[in-house]
Amino acid sequence: MQIRNEIRFVLNGQDIVLANLSADETLLDYLRLDKRLIGTKEGCAEGDCGACTVLVGRLKNDVLTYKAVNACILFLASLDGSSIVTIEYLQGVDGRLNPVQTAMVAHHGSQCGFCTPGFVMSLYALWMENASPTVQQIETAIQGNLCRCTGYAPIIRAALAMSDYGTPSAEHLTKERDSVSARLKNLRDQSRVVVQKNGSRAILPINVDDLASVLVQEFGATIVAGGTDVGLWVTKFLRHISPAVFVGHLEDFKQVAITQELVSLGAGITYTEAQEVISKYYPHLSEFWDRIAGWQVRNMGTLGGNIANGSPIGDLPPVLIALGAIVTLRKGELRRELRLEDYFISYRKQDRGEGEFIESISIPRISDGYHAAYKISKRRDEDISSVAVGFNIQVTDGLIASASVAFGGMAATPKRAAAAEATLIGQSWGEAAFEAAARQLPADFAPLTDVRATSDYRMKVAQNLFRRFWLEKSGLDVRLIRLQRG
Ligand SMILES: Cc1cc2nc3c(=O)[nH]c(=O)nc-3n(C[C@H](O)[C@H](O)[C@H](O)COP(=O)(O)OP(=O)(O)OC[C@H]3O[C@@H](n4cnc5c(N)ncnc54)[C@H](O)[C@@H]3O)c2cc1C
Ligand code: FES
Ligand code: FES
Repeated sequence: MQIRNEIRFVLNGQDIVLANLSADETLLDYLRLDKRLIGTKEGCAEGDCGACTVLVGRLKNDVLTYKAVNACILFLASLDGSSIVTIEYLQGVDGRLNPVQTAMVAHHGSQCGFCTPGFVMSLYALWMENASPTVQQIETAIQGNLCRCTGYAPIIRAALAMSDYGTPSAEHLTKERDSVSARLKNLRDQSRVVVQKNGSRAILPINVDDLASVLVQEFGATIVAGGTDVGLWVTKFLRHISPAVFVGHLEDFKQVAITQELVSLGAGITYTEAQEVISKYYPHLSEFWDRIAGWQVRNMGTLGGNIANGSPIGDLPPVLIALGAIVTLRKGELRRELRLEDYFISYRKQDRGEGEFIESISIPRISDGYHAAYKISKRRDEDISSVAVGFNIQVTDGLIASASVAFGGMAATPKRAAAAEATLIGQSWGEAAFEAAARQLPADFAPLTDVRATSDYRMKVAQNLFRRFWLEKSGLDVRLIRLQRG
């Protein structure tokens, strides 16, 4: 096997080769400190504010696709084979402001300007994909961008007017697409990449088989997928992650396979990459999906990372447990399957051994029954859940035949509400059954009080989610009632 001791990528149209590189250097530090590209700002250094938004393009099935991402929690070593674009490289025709910048000026979308490069990058990414976005699509694209002084209305007005000032096809990023794609193809050489600096080592396997081999050779290594959790270990907790095994570039770790019974997703698939298939096969998760983190984080974060991180307030585990998801764990050539609900043992402790990794997640397809997923958080966008829940209820001849209801935020692990489920089974499909299940919930959980919510609030809201589920499934639009009252 070939080993390469340098990473290669394209930055603002220039070829870059780096050999002397540690595992934990972020793209943001590299841009600002090494390249003096200071248009990309540092606000929070934890993926929350979007001031550091840049575009990262990768070849997917040989097509170059750019995504808006947070440079502050993106590790430089992970960028082998990609094309990075910063605010300095966005120019309109003849080097003037590009149409997104022009619209921001015309509609007074900037005051102090600190957040502006980040907003422009997010809106530019949206505009390149969709030249006439709706307000809702604009709000989704700027979920991960915070502005403290202008306010969002002028920025949204600017975004609605982007196409008044030009077309994506006239942008030099569009015109150079073929040549950049060809350069990225040339960078591929089927090598395992190993780079290091001051004893901190980064490894990029060739494919999933190579990942399996690396992990049995490197016990204790940190797997880094999207880095949206691991990034904060470095920027906030100053933890060392070496040796780090980066997997975000592995195309065969993102595979989707659909059978009559299952939808199987490679653990390395990002939220954005999985969104279409999830919305198609599990429509009740469509809206929920848009409430996981913000746009940039969904472009980076993976399904495998959310599960492996093992947080009791991760959004995916409860909704996937309710659907009966199974994880495939792999160590070397050995694989085993586990129900996702059995994977979580205790607080932050999971059934995963040294050298083992999550290879894929398989979710039973749904054809009938009643399904829902709810997330309760202080803010609608870019916020961690206080409580999240997945409902999966099957009804036969008017009786509840099976019930799978799993919560996050209610215990030390994501967990099914066994007593409440037992209360539902065998009951007539009706309000009384859900009322009884809600009352039974204290037998399942004694939630914590923390910064996100008190124990009482968590219990109350979780009980109310049973009532909301019933009301919605019996045809009432609960949210409409709330809006009318407001
Ligand atoms: C601003 C912000 C907002 C967020 N909002 C939300 C939110 O609303 N809801 C939510 O649930 N989460 C949220 N998160 C957390 C995070 O984005 C998710 O948990 C994400 O899915 C993690 O995936 P990742 O690929 O980035 O994981 P990484 O950070 O790369 O890894 C996370 C952990 O999983 C391990 N790992 C990764 N892949 C594998 C694998 N295949 N096998 C074994 N181990 C693996 C890593 O070693 C590490 O321990 C947020 C994060 C940020 C920064
Ligand atoms: S600096 Fe705030 S998201 Fe990166
Ligand atoms: S313009 Fe000042 S923070 Fe947005």
